[in-house]
Amino acid sequence: MSVMPLLETELDPDPFVQFDRWFEDAKGAGIAMPEAMTVSTSALDGEVSSRVCLLKSCDHRGFVFFTNYCSRKGKQIHDNPRASLVFWWQSLERQVRIEGAVVKTTEEESDEYFATRPRGSQLGAWASEQSRVLAGRGALDGRFEELSTTYHDVVIPRPPHWGGYRVIPLLLEFWQGRTDRLHDRFQYRLRNDVKDWVVERLSP
Ligand SMILES: Cc1cc2nc3c(=O)[nH]c(=O)nc-3n(C[C@H](O)[C@H](O)[C@H](O)COP(=O)(O)O)c2cc1C
Repeated sequence: MSVMPLLETELDPDPFVQFDRWFEDAKGAGIAMPEAMTVSTSALDGEVSSRVCLLKSCDHRGFVFFTNYCSRKGKQIHDNPRASLVFWWQSLERQVRIEGAVVKTTEEESDEYFATRPRGSQLGAWASEQSRVLAGRGALDGRFEELSTTYHDVVIPRPPHWGGYRVIPLLLEFWQGRTDRLHDRFQYRLRNDVKDWVVERLSP
C-alpha cells in the first residue's frame, strides 16, 4: 500500500475503529509483527522504562497484553497504574501512540488466553521469574526441565503471577508520515473523562 495522507474527513470519530482500520492495513501490508508495541511504564520516583510487548486484543475496553505481574513493568504498573504504548508500521509510515490507565484483565480472561498458549510457553511462564537476575542459563533450563516433569501429561494451570493488563486510553495519536516533514497528526482525547472524544490536528 502506498503512503497516503491522513485527512480529517477520513478519520473515524471513534479512535478504536480508527485503530482497527490502521491495524488491518498494517496486517494487509505484510508488516512483520504489526502487533509489536513499545510499552512504557514509570515508577513513582519518576524512573521510566520501556520494552516491546505483543498486543493480544483490542476493543472499546482497551488494549491488552500479557506478562508477568512480578516483572519490572508489573511492579511499576502496581505502583503507578499508567502506561504509554507506541506502534510503528514502517512501510506505511504510520505511528500510533496511546496513553492511559492500566488495569489487570479478569482472572477468566487471563486463564482463557493462557490455555491457548503452546505448552512450552506455559512452562516458560512458570519457569521464568521475569526481570530477576539469574545465576546462569543453566538455572533457567533446569527449572524448565523440572516443570516439564511435574506437569507431564497434565493440564498446566496459569501461574498466579502471570496475566493480562488492559490499557484504557485517555489519549491516542495517529501519525502519518508526509513529505518535507509536514506529517499528519491527529490526537483523540477524552473530554472530561466522559466517553466523548475530541479530535485535534497537531503540528508535526
Ligand atoms: C517482539 C517482542 C515481543 C515481546 N512480547 C512480550 C509480551 O507480550 N509480554 C512480555 O512480558 N514480554 C514480551 N517481550 C519481552 C519484553 O520486551 C521484556 O523483555 C520483558 O517483558 C521484561 O520486561 P521488564 O523487565 O521491563 O518487565 C517481547 C519482546 C519482543 C522483542
